[in-house]
Amino acid sequence: MSKTIAFHLQKGGVGKTTISGTLACQSALGGEKTLVIDCDPQGNLSSWFLKSTPRFELSDVLQGRCFVSDAILPAPDVDNLFILPTFGIGGTLKNYSETKLSEEPFVIQDLVNDVSGDYSRIVLDLSPGLGRLERSALIASDEIITPMTPEVFSLDGLEIFIDELQKLKKNMRSAVRHSRIIINSYDERIRQHRDIYKVAESTGRFTVYRIPVDPLFRKAQEAGKAPQLFKVRGRGLKPATVEAIRELDKEIWI
Ligand SMILES: Nc1ncnc2c1ncn2[C@@H]1O[C@H](COP(=O)(O)OP(=O)(O)O)[C@@H](O)[C@H]1O
Ligand SMILES: [Mg+2]
Repeated sequence: MSKTIAFHLQKGGVGKTTISGTLACQSALGGEKTLVIDCDPQGNLSSWFLKSTPRFELSDVLQGRCFVSDAILPAPDVDNLFILPTFGIGGTLKNYSETKLSEEPFVIQDLVNDVSGDYSRIVLDLSPGLGRLERSALIASDEIITPMTPEVFSLDGLEIFIDELQKLKKNMRSAVRHSRIIINSYDERIRQHRDIYKVAESTGRFTVYRIPVDPLFRKAQEAGKAPQLFKVRGRGLKPATVEAIRELDKEIWI
């Protein structure tokens, strides 16, 4: 059985793409055939992992212009990792989601069903916001995991997200799980970070994970590499970051 996870909070810059890409890599490096569907019209994840502009992208698949198998590409540097890409140029996914998607809320679900026989793990990277495309992707998932940064605004954002998700689940009769939070760019030395972690834990509703602040993520993205395989002057991710990624990989796919 395959499992589909969306990493989502409607806020930008909390690490959705970084965490989606990194955890998809970790899964693939562990030998699982893993697909990332880049549902963000800006295509950050695609430009991170792919070297050239592909012939087809997600919006072509959604509009029936090609088969899904024509659009999926292997990530050149990571065995078992595959990308169904989006490229921001031209804004075709954005146009599609603003015009045609309202009549087809289950397009992403249908797409996931189509590919779930070929991939044991599927990751959806979404853009900030809770528009039609994001909603369609959220109800196509088995689980939603929320990344947030250790700031008060993120806690506010989480509350709004929980509310909106409840409505969406009810309207769409969805049973998608939402029981894990990742506090990203966490620094144990900063009191506010520790406080935010405590608040998130004290809700009792979530298992709360932490990913340390680690400059190697951005450097690996700039170099178009998997963070786990990338080094700058002999140095890779911090040991605590590696440990956090391993722990998440062990737990989230169950
Ligand atoms: N744990 C981290 N430590 C340091 N920088 C990070 C970390 N996670 C993400 N970043 C950086 O923060 C920025 C925003 O992350 P991104 O994944 O693009 O967020 P989102 O997809 O939610 O908009 C990027 O430049 C990324 O490299
Ligand atoms: Mg992103």
